[in-house]
Amino acid sequence: MKTFQVIPKISMLDTAEEFIEKFSLSPEDLVIASPSIWNRYFQKVQAGQVILIRKYGSGEPTDEMVESIKKDVTKPYKRVVAIGGGTVIDVAKLFCLEKFIPVGDLFDHVFPAVKKVPLVIVPTTCGTGSEMTNISILEFKSRHTKFGLADDALYADDAVLVPQLLESLPFSVFATSSIDALVHSLESYLSPKATDISETLSLQAAKMILTAYKKIQDAGKEKKMEAMRAEVGKVLTASAMAGIAFGNAGCGTVHAMSYPLGAVYHVPHGEANYAMFTGVFKTYMKYLPDGKIKILNEELAKILDCEKSDVYIKIEELLNENILCKKSLKEYGLRREELLVFTHSVLANQQRLLGNSYIPMTEERILSIYESLYD
Ligand SMILES: [Fe+2]
Repeated sequence: MKTFQVIPKISMLDTAEEFIEKFSLSPEDLVIASPSIWNRYFQKVQAGQVILIRKYGSGEPTDEMVESIKKDVTKPYKRVVAIGGGTVIDVAKLFCLEKFIPVGDLFDHVFPAVKKVPLVIVPTTCGTGSEMTNISILEFKSRHTKFGLADDALYADDAVLVPQLLESLPFSVFATSSIDALVHSLESYLSPKATDISETLSLQAAKMILTAYKKIQDAGKEKKMEAMRAEVGKVLTASAMAGIAFGNAGCGTVHAMSYPLGAVYHVPHGEANYAMFTGVFKTYMKYLPDGKIKILNEELAKILDCEKSDVYIKIEELLNENILCKKSLKEYGLRREELLVFTHSVLANQQRLLGNSYIPMTEERILSIYESLYD
């Protein structure tokens, strides 16, 4: 049996003002927010307690961050409002639960996730798609990798898309977050759990993101920021669509293999995905070129205006020259002997994702992908 569900109600608003009016932030709310966005658009709002995420770290979400925030939340609250990127969202999802400490025990299913209060999510980057999924992903410091917890208790009640909040997004954040959304769309399309409904969303999201990249390319280096700002609302929508698709069909090997790199070398999530993406997809092509990937390549070739045999070369060119330049694993400081350690970490910790792979992933295949990306 395959299933498809969309839980959060999606609202599309133009401005922060409109959000404040429609969602009436109140003293009974716990707000977890990115400081730059909160200070710029919401500072005058009377919320109950406001947690600004940067006080707890500057990178990806960790178990230690969740436990420190929990100690600082002193007032009772009746709703959680998350306004920020992936870190804010993945952390905020946990604060809706009756119990989530010790957070390692929650992720290990020692006790169940039970929803206690409603959650409103307002994404301020354009890639995580987490506003639409039932997944929270944290880096567990002592385990040197990231884990995801997927549970319906983690769904938001409302996902609110406000393009205005992305108007000052730095290009580097646009790049890494939108590449993450592109990978969500392509991995979910190839997942064995995909359905006709999720595939439609996956393909349309990929099309919207690649079209935005082409417009940025056409604008040229000098007008790149302007072009990005013109496209960011579309990419925000595409990211939510890819979120619905991977929330149902799952992400796969690219995400699984990127987690040790992200956790050990503190590489932004979308960038770590990009480091793995073409290596994984070339391996898919090598072992099962005539399966579903053939249809995907035909569709991508139409968007990219190239031969279907060249789609991954073309995507890499488009990204490297206009969005984000791909680095080898060696450039991140990895030592060659760590490739086997990473391989074992993926096999031990990421079976949830490997189960969605387009082809079965063995130790030999994972190691050989890491090796192909090393230098
Ligand atoms: Fe992702």
